[in-house]
Amino acid sequence: MNVSCPFNYTGGKFKLLEQIQPLFSEGDVFLDLFSGGGNVGINSSSQTVYFNDINENLIYLIKYIRDTEKNILFEKIDDIIAKYDLSNASLNGYSFYNCDSSKGLGRYNKNKFLKLRKDFNSNILNGEIDYAQLYVLIVYSFNNQIRFNKKGEFNLPVGKRDFNSRMRKKLELFSEKIKNKDVHFLTKNFRNISLEKFPSKTFIYCDPPYLVTDATYNENGMWAESDEKDLLAFLDNASEQGFKFALSNVLESKNRRNHILDKWIETKGYNCHYLSKSYSNSNYHRKNKQSVSVEVLVTNYVTDRTDVNDKK
Ligand SMILES: C[S@@+](CC[C@H](N)C(=O)[O-])C[C@H]1O[C@@H](n2cnc3c(N)ncnc32)[C@H](O)[C@@H]1O
Repeated sequence: MNVSCPFNYTGGKFKLLEQIQPLFSEGDVFLDLFSGGGNVGINSSSQTVYFNDINENLIYLIKYIRDTEKNILFEKIDDIIAKYDLSNASLNGYSFYNCDSSKGLGRYNKNKFLKLRKDFNSNILNGEIDYAQLYVLIVYSFNNQIRFNKKGEFNLPVGKRDFNSRMRKKLELFSEKIKNKDVHFLTKNFRNISLEKFPSKTFIYCDPPYLVTDATYNENGMWAESDEKDLLAFLDNASEQGFKFALSNVLESKNRRNHILDKWIETKGYNCHYLSKSYSNSNYHRKNKQSVSVEVLVTNYVTDRTDVNDKK
């Protein structure tokens, strides 16, 4: 059974797993080069998994969840919730906090959340990061996301929900699954990953920021054309060295086409699998072409699943 990241990560591939996993060609080692919330790597069939992401806070949070015994992890989280007097609606119900489920718990939690955020951010300034605090911040923040400003401070506002049974279950399943794998953590720019150190039966999965969409991890144009070209060259090189790879991407979004990717797929003869977008709110067949989003998985190997839409 696939498990999802225990918080909400923009661009997370959990809902796409059932479409992309059958197209993978996994070996002994799974290298999740842009691992984000870890949704893909954790569900790999390989026993050894490398999570790499340039976002250190994210990688160290996931490492903390792996390294902390499950009951201790929950105890720490519950202690922080109790210390800051944040809501626990699963236990006490919404009315206990003078809130209802549609408006959520934000009004009750706001000042308590801001106090926790202030304490967390002042610890960061002293060079200390409390990852249990970070997890609680994410859970009580707007849309359960992880986001830092340029100064490195957590900057999301309070959200509507709390550490409810659904979030508890997600954390429990993720914590159990990650402990049962041989997981390694890297915080490198993908350009600095030396493939020579990986066994030849390493499968490389890439889910980079997309050139033609905007996401929180791609604010301030963090992912530019030069990054795209360097990644494609990195994958060509990996392919020449005998590694198999799969690249997730968006060929077109809101009338913006990724011509660099188009040309690369065609000139190198890689396989482009078109994914169905029914999992999201945009639909390829919509009349309103503004909302068109063409999501693909590009592989350097032939899969035995050939859809009519696939371009070879
Ligand atoms: C689409 S998200 C990955 C989502 C992930 N597959 C999941 O399911 O949660 C892209 C990730 O690439 C990371 N990233 C951006 N530039 C990078 C770089 N140069 N090297 C490595 N990682 C990078 C971002 O921090 C972000 O987490």
